[in-house]
Amino acid sequence: MNGSLVVVDDVAAAFAQLVVDRASASRAQFSLAFSGGSTARKCYERLSHQSEFPVHWERIDAWWGDERCVPLNDPDSNYRLVEESLLSKVGPLASAHPMRSDLPDAADLYDRLVRSAPPIDLIHLGLGPDGHTASLFPDSEALTAPSSRFVVSNVDPLGHNPHPRLTFTFAGIAHCRTAVVTVAGASKKEALHRVLDGDLTAPAAHLTNDDLIWLVDSEAMGSRSPR
Ligand code: 6PG
Repeated sequence: MNGSLVVVDDVAAAFAQLVVDRASASRAQFSLAFSGGSTARKCYERLSHQSEFPVHWERIDAWWGDERCVPLNDPDSNYRLVEESLLSKVGPLASAHPMRSDLPDAADLYDRLVRSAPPIDLIHLGLGPDGHTASLFPDSEALTAPSSRFVVSNVDPLGHNPHPRLTFTFAGIAHCRTAVVTVAGASKKEALHRVLDGDLTAPAAHLTNDDLIWLVDSEAMGSRSPR
């Protein structure tokens, strides 16, 4: 597997502290691309505790690494997940760029928007039990998107993950300065071990960022040692 793997007791707290450390190291604005899923929700709820995890939110540019093609106020929307768990609890941001799946050519629009901006400083990713990350599902078309595309539309051909999606491609993720993957719970053990073994049928095994950090808990690691 690429990147560095850190086994932590509390993935959410470790993620929140990493964001504080990286954002505070930058005197200027700092851009974050958010993920979806229950692990991400726990990470953002923790990060919202500003006394414990102080962030200059007025310097933060918010992006999304993937989105379900539903209204932004839909319970399944990743925008709504981040709004509920974090953005509604912290001060105004420098900017926020939801993926507007309601617009025609939404993928093209977001692709152009991302490519016209400086590289995103930190993208947060999860790991699905099937080895997906963002909305890059096994056997899905987005896995072979041209490297010129940073954002595309996608669906899960196996039907395990609901809704049509918008997602960063591998090239889009690689363009970000840092990628942080949070993996928690025994349900992720098989997928994580596939990544650790370099099983490229697991999309998350394709992550190549120079600065790639896996924050995993002991339940996801199982009896395996980190190396
Ligand atoms: C999504 C996410 C997805 C998620 C993983 C892990 O929109 O569903 O971006 O990639 O991060 O499926 O989700 P859990 O933490 O809920 O297992």
